Amino acid sequence: MKFENSKKLYKKAVELIPGGVNSPVRAFKSVNREAPIFVKKGQGARVWDEDDNEYIDYICSWGPLILGHNHSKVLEAVNEIIANGSSYGLPTRYEVDLAELIIETVPSIEKVRLTTSGTEATMSAVRLARAYTQRNKILKFEGCYHGHSDALLVKSGSGLLTDGYQDSNGITDAVIKDTLTLPFGDIEKVKEILLNRDIACVIIEPIPANMGLIETHKEYLVELRKITEQTGTILIFDEVISGFRLALGGAQEYFGINPDLTTLGKIIGGGYPVGAFGGKKEIMDLVAPVGRVYHAGTLSGNPISAKAGFATIKYLKDNKDEIYRELEEKTKYLVENIKKLAEKYSVKICVNSLGSLFTIFFTDNEIVEDLEDSLKSNTENFAIYFNTMLEDGIIIPPSQFEAHFLSLAHTNEDLDKTLISIEKAFKKIGEKNGK
Ligand SMILES: Cc1ncc(COP(=O)(O)O)c(C=O)c1O
Repeated sequence: MKFENSKKLYKKAVELIPGGVNSPVRAFKSVNREAPIFVKKGQGARVWDEDDNEYIDYICSWGPLILGHNHSKVLEAVNEIIANGSSYGLPTRYEVDLAELIIETVPSIEKVRLTTSGTEATMSAVRLARAYTQRNKILKFEGCYHGHSDALLVKSGSGLLTDGYQDSNGITDAVIKDTLTLPFGDIEKVKEILLNRDIACVIIEPIPANMGLIETHKEYLVELRKITEQTGTILIFDEVISGFRLALGGAQEYFGINPDLTTLGKIIGGGYPVGAFGGKKEIMDLVAPVGRVYHAGTLSGNPISAKAGFATIKYLKDNKDEIYRELEEKTKYLVENIKKLAEKYSVKICVNSLGSLFTIFFTDNEIVEDLEDSLKSNTENFAIYFNTMLEDGIIIPPSQFEAHFLSLAHTNEDLDKTLISIEKAFKKIGEKNGK
């Protein structure tokens, strides 16, 4: 395979853009490559790069493309309005349509505000929780990523972990002091904090997918709901990834637990820039212009994003039983066979999966249930896995600390081709370990 055009573009990009990328997770640094691939187009489960290499895609834009690239319903919806104009700074019917559909489908949301990104959604939800409770401190979990606002970049996951750290420079001590963190999964520690201090909110990825995928136990979320209720703490489910992916109504429907506030992104924009936060009317009515919790955005609720998101959710809703069953079956098929291949080549792994998400941790640990476990993974073995897949025409997230995303467009043949490449990768890793 040739990567000349991507390399040339990267050489130019690094002179113009920090690290040559507009989001750190796109860099291929941690998988020992000279340059990332630059993508030219996508269709179904595939993307093509600037050198015309074709890949089966397990990044799927980091989650939004649950229907695959360029799904006909989404394309049709966008084409229907794109010639009318782009954005008006005035309300459009498409925002109302999307809000209605979100409220219909996400169990705990009674009112919703659209934003331009997930980062904005979580930042605003935290501000809202602080205003509602009139408390300052917040609690988050190590390795959970909630976008890149100051308060939430403490002990964070995703691109930070990939680059080998967990906190960003440039954040004041005062902000850091107000963000308490705990390891994921230890309910007793949560109780200790909430019962002894005034905490505005607990924000959690109900299924953490930014330190690799962690399989949440329902009891943990049930207990979290109980203790937040008991202490008047706002519970925020950050469903930017899990929303519309784990089930139509997200993790809250899947686990049957209603948070006070929910943040969304990714799928609700069908691949276009978006985010949203929503919840109980009583809380949401503190948002400006009704209340005095300020949130605004020149492109908030952009009509193209709203239309693409509506088309995506509508399609999911109309076919939900088949879609979520099919996605789960395909993921299970991959995961079961991955485990068999690991055994065959004596490669030590732990595979976590839920719905259409999975992560292969290259680790001796039999279970990976928090950041500490995840960080024990062998990133060198991961790099071998990544590179073998890439050179075989399969693109997976370029980091051990992310999840693979399956879409409806992945066919059984794609899965079998993927398994052939995984076998090659495991054989290489097994041989290296045997030496
Ligand atoms: C759980 C979670 N929350 C928030 C965000 C931030 O969303 P965005 O990248 O749209 O700002 C992400 C992004 O990956 C995420 O995974």
